[in-house]
Amino acid sequence: MSELKNDLFLKALRGEQVQRPPVWMMRQAGRYLPEYLKLKAKYDFFTRCETPELACEITLQPIDIIGPDAAIIFSDILVIPQALGVKVLMEEGRGPLLPDTISTQADIDKLQVEGAAERLDYVCKAISLCKQELNGRVPLIGFAGAPFTILCYMVEGKGSKTFDKAKQFCFTEPALAAQLLQKITTATIEYLKAQVKAGADCVQIFDSWSGMLAPADFDAYSLPYLKQISDALISMCPVILFPKGSWYALQQLSETSCSGIGIDWTVPAIYAREQTPGKTLQGNFDPAKLLTDPQTITKEVNKMIDAFGVHRYIANLGHGILPNVPVDNAKAFVDAVKNYPN
Ligand code: CP3
Repeated sequence: MSELKNDLFLKALRGEQVQRPPVWMMRQAGRYLPEYLKLKAKYDFFTRCETPELACEITLQPIDIIGPDAAIIFSDILVIPQALGVKVLMEEGRGPLLPDTISTQADIDKLQVEGAAERLDYVCKAISLCKQELNGRVPLIGFAGAPFTILCYMVEGKGSKTFDKAKQFCFTEPALAAQLLQKITTATIEYLKAQVKAGADCVQIFDSWSGMLAPADFDAYSLPYLKQISDALISMCPVILFPKGSWYALQQLSETSCSGIGIDWTVPAIYAREQTPGKTLQGNFDPAKLLTDPQTITKEVNKMIDAFGVHRYIANLGHGILPNVPVDNAKAFVDAVKNYPN
């Protein structure tokens, strides 16, 4: 494996001095890139995920076209339910669909934790291939969904504005919810360890829906599982936790073993810094601001870095890039960070 030529991202996670913050964009592989849409027209979603050559090509597209300081492996958080034995369909224009939702003890008993990580070996093959193709240009990020967010999809069966069915399950069947969350956590830990062994330089945990929880419910249904994952991985690589919308939990998150915490655009930099001493922060540009123009983006990026500071900071969006962002605007975001201060 070749030495990293650009290790700004890992330096920021280790708290080392840097000349400027590193930058990448959540969901940078896909959606808004014409080169991705060409592959999307030819192969269905899970074929793209399961074919290492395709996943590798898609992972590298933003590196070649936009130039961020880290790559993130092209896959999806919903490969974990699949590996546990649950059917997941990706419906064009409508998002994920899990027709066999989880609601009973029998449903949970059927989930196959054993061998789950092995069934996701195609992700590890894609990671090894990407490391080879990247040839040390930038580090590669592995990822998984957080157990609470995965529970949301497994119980609700699809995306939702409120995930009320998933929350109802947690609140009415807390013991079943704990079993389900634990099964997901155990499989996820094995899966992430395999990603690191295959070459991932860092892992990020996406808790996209934790912000739907009240603070006490976050303590019950999200935090303990995030902690388990971070504790299990941290001796192998840096860990970034991204519990979107859970601004109220920043202090508790800063007491976990993780290296970095992702924050969304509703959190003021000064507040986030006060709550998280000693941690690297990642975020938090409003993805909708990429729908303005390069000049505005540059100005706003400078303000964002001024607010967070250069040290222990990774410039990113506050959530995934939107499909309708012009490529030039995404490039302006990355360039603005690379040229900071300007
Ligand atoms: O970041 C990257 O570029 C790597 C790839 C990646 C995908 N999904 C590819 C994808 C990552 C990191 C994810 C994570 C993911 N998947 C999350 C967490 C991050 C977030 O946005 O909150 C969630 C909640 C999912 C579940 C999921 N997958 C949904 C809700 C959808 C449909 C809506 C959408 O985001 O487009 C997907 C499909 C999906 N996953 C697409 C891509 C590129 C779009 C489908 C396609 O292009 O065919």
